[in-house]
Amino acid sequence: MLLTNVLLLLFSASRDVLAAPQQVPLEVPALAKPRKLHGRFLHITDMHPDPAYRPKTSESTSCHRKKGKKKKNAAGYYGLPQSDCDSPLRLTNFTLDFIEKKWASDIDFVIWTGDNARHDNDRKLPRTPSEIYDLNRAVATKMASAFTARGIPVVPSLGNNDVWPHNIMIPGPNSITSEFASIWKAFIPFPHLQIFQRGAYYAVEVIPDAVAVISLNTMYFYDSNKAVGGCEFKDRDDAGNLEFDWLEVQLKGFRDRGMQVWISGHVPPSPGNYFPECYVRYVELALRFQDTILGHLYGHMNADHFFFLEANDLAVIDPPKVANNGDLFDTLLSDFAVIPNAKDINMDNFAVINVSPSVVPNPYLPSFRVFSYNTTGAPIRHLGRKHGHHRGDRKNKEAQCKLDAYRETWKCQLNDSWHSDPLAPSRSNQLWTPLGYAQYYIPHLEEGNKSHTPCFKLEYATYERDTLNGSKGVYPMPPKNLPGKVKKRQTPYELENLTVGAWIELARRMGSSKKLRSIFKRYMYME
Ligand SMILES: *[C@@H]1O[C@H](CO)[C@@H](O)[C@H](O)[C@H]1NC(C)=O
Ligand SMILES: *[C@@H]1O[C@H](CO)[C@@H](O)[C@H](O)[C@H]1NC(C)=O
Ligand SMILES: *[C@@H]1O[C@H](CO)[C@@H](O)[C@H](O)[C@H]1NC(C)=O
Ligand SMILES: *[C@@H]1O[C@H](CO)[C@@H](O)[C@H](O)[C@H]1NC(C)=O
Ligand SMILES: *[C@@H]1O[C@H](CO)[C@@H](O)[C@H](O)[C@H]1NC(C)=O
Ligand SMILES: *[C@@H]1O[C@H](CO)[C@@H](O)[C@H](O)[C@H]1NC(C)=O
Repeated sequence: MLLTNVLLLLFSASRDVLAAPQQVPLEVPALAKPRKLHGRFLHITDMHPDPAYRPKTSESTSCHRKKGKKKKNAAGYYGLPQSDCDSPLRLTNFTLDFIEKKWASDIDFVIWTGDNARHDNDRKLPRTPSEIYDLNRAVATKMASAFTARGIPVVPSLGNNDVWPHNIMIPGPNSITSEFASIWKAFIPFPHLQIFQRGAYYAVEVIPDAVAVISLNTMYFYDSNKAVGGCEFKDRDDAGNLEFDWLEVQLKGFRDRGMQVWISGHVPPSPGNYFPECYVRYVELALRFQDTILGHLYGHMNADHFFFLEANDLAVIDPPKVANNGDLFDTLLSDFAVIPNAKDINMDNFAVINVSPSVVPNPYLPSFRVFSYNTTGAPIRHLGRKHGHHRGDRKNKEAQCKLDAYRETWKCQLNDSWHSDPLAPSRSNQLWTPLGYAQYYIPHLEEGNKSHTPCFKLEYATYERDTLNGSKGVYPMPPKNLPGKVKKRQTPYELENLTVGAWIELARRMGSSKKLRSIFKRYMYME
């Protein structure tokens, strides 16, 4: 068959649920084998391998030296659970080997959200750029052999501990962007390499012509990074502003092509983590492109949770914040408590951020997540026939934006119409809609030793129990990766899908159920 015919055939096939591996140049015959989609992908984050980790040492030395006195604080063979220590390489190797063996034949792509170096502050053993790069290279090599070699696209993003010093990254091109362009060569599509050199962000069509993952470099939004300006409106060349300009172009481009995207990165977009003006730009794009974005996946916090970005965040004058000195759990719960009731809510005004817990058992237990998504729905009709609309209290906004204090802020300058559509995959279950996830963890890391490997178990899943246990005829997760009998406590949320509405409903249910709140807290802190 002529090459052009092969390509034609493949392109028509990719409109179905068949997809060719992404990072293979077009002329390579490997393309002749389109892959069948499994409807699942892996999200893994915050591995933090530490080459200086030594079993039996003390937690007070970051598990590097001195004999641990009490058994509880002595470094274990595979790591010290619920501690301040990073991961022994034995644990990160074990985790990746385990996932390769048990999951590589059942997933379509991998989202990997950073922090692949040790992050302890051991003064006797300071971190160095070369150690950080070596660790990243070692993990990247393993990811490439586990997944890329099988045609499974891997989409990494940069963590705040993947740079030296912690948290600090100047605008690129610089030694960090060029080093990671080399370390992630197997993952970054060639056309994105040049922009990557500038800012360490890029996109991958994980299902060609259908679904992309956009990997953001959150270092330019993170308010601990004192080397950038924080997306001030007047500073249009600020690294964060340039990244948002790029993101906007990507989202427009994918939307024009009728594609859907996942957005991924390390530090989640929250008012506590982002510079105020970077946060505004993130929220605005998340809501403006709600019909194109399937979801937002992040790491960094090491605690399992979700939260909402809201149109309210774009009000020119911030609504008075309820004073809250509580921890993350209390803050989330008080946010969930003010979600409007079903009658008054406008779903256009919400986007959902999912934060996955870490592999490093600091401060909880090693874990990873596998999402499932819809591959059987009819192809999505071209969205955007519905007229775009403006949001918010325009009159009030116009008056407020005349004031000097607000005129030159993003809140007053962003006025594009929003693309929201109740029939988009982020809002109603159809092709590419996320359906749920299963989260795995090692409840008894301390039991691993020379002769016994530790054991990953299903911690919980978002599905209804009869969906997860296959009584509806299809298994969202492969039966080989499920316990013999799924327990009720492993399916606490009973969500049919992961649309914006499903998360809103869950948040609301938490408001009225003490039991659900305590379950959420238990999973958040892995108690
Ligand atoms: C981890 O895996 C890498 C590559 O597979 C290997 O070179 C290294 O020795 C392993 N380290 C440990 C501690 O198992
Ligand atoms: C996928 O979407 C279609 C609608 O396009 C729906 O009929 C089907 O039930 C969905 N599949 C799952 C597993 O939810
Ligand atoms: C949007 O804002 C720009 C300034 O950033 C202004 O020039 C333009 O007229 C505004 N458009 C609308 C529709 O308000
Ligand atoms: C290793 O762990 C297993 C299970 O926790 C235990 O039964 C065994 O005695 C341990 N072996 C050694 C050498 O500590
Ligand atoms: C699956 O879950 C349903 C609903 O909880 C339950 O009735 C059924 O017995 C379970 N089936 C299996 C095989 O565990
Ligand atoms: C999506 O899931 C939510 C929560 O379980 C449910 O209320 C809703 O009916 C589901 N929507 C579709 C289209 O399946």
